Amino acid sequence: MDSENSKISQLLAGNWKMNGLRSSLAEIRALGRGIADLQGVEVLVCPPATLLTEAAKAAEGSPVLVGGQDCHAQKAGAFTGEISAVSLRDAGAKYVILGHSERRQYQVEASALIAEKMTTACEEGLKPILCVGETEAVRDAGNAEQIVTKQLEASLPKDFSLDMGVQELAVAYEPIWAIGTGRTPTTEQIADMHSALRVSLSNRFGMDISAQIRIIYGGSVKPNNAAEILAVPNVDGALVGGASLKSADFLAIIHAAVRLA
Ligand code: PGA
Repeated sequence: MDSENSKISQLLAGNWKMNGLRSSLAEIRALGRGIADLQGVEVLVCPPATLLTEAAKAAEGSPVLVGGQDCHAQKAGAFTGEISAVSLRDAGAKYVILGHSERRQYQVEASALIAEKMTTACEEGLKPILCVGETEAVRDAGNAEQIVTKQLEASLPKDFSLDMGVQELAVAYEPIWAIGTGRTPTTEQIADMHSALRVSLSNRFGMDISAQIRIIYGGSVKPNNAAEILAVPNVDGALVGGASLKSADFLAIIHAAVRLA
């Protein structure tokens, strides 16, 4: 395997999106039992916010971590329906997904707002998973790497530093056209994008810090393609949507990562 993959533990993060009920907590308990003895991977589930407290309880005593799917840029205040980083922490979250393409698209979140959310999340002790990715039109036009690295730069707080926990950052490369579609980029396209993102992080933070930042891939990761994707150089884990809803599928993906660790 590539030496760049071996420096840090792989992050396997499940994004349940707007799915999951209290009855789904059994999946988290099953996941906890399934990964009890595994080494070299960090496993995270991001359920809907209403389930976070119960999900954290279901994960107790197991290595499974729980996280939020978004947070507000402000710490508190008159923002009806929103969820703060402080509340996520209070509910047991260790991570938060920020800038997912579904939020960029449906909630019209711009990179500048996501950078503000990043700051707030880090100040409240949450580890951010920052999502970036191109549309199919951008991919077809041949400038995906340029657009996605720009998106990354614009979504990082201007003063992001070691003090704020930059080494705890994870970047998720998620081509929009691969999310929920069953389509994935070629391993070469993934390798090229992850390498471009690594270079961008190195330019900004230096090689040592950049090497600690996990760059994970998301978009139609399934049990049958996980091993191939996770073996790509500079791929440090996966952000998994649909296949994280059933513990058996998610476990198969996690086992693929463990075999590569
Ligand atoms: P998918 O979703 O695995 O269902 O394609 C990935 C994501 O949006 O994080």
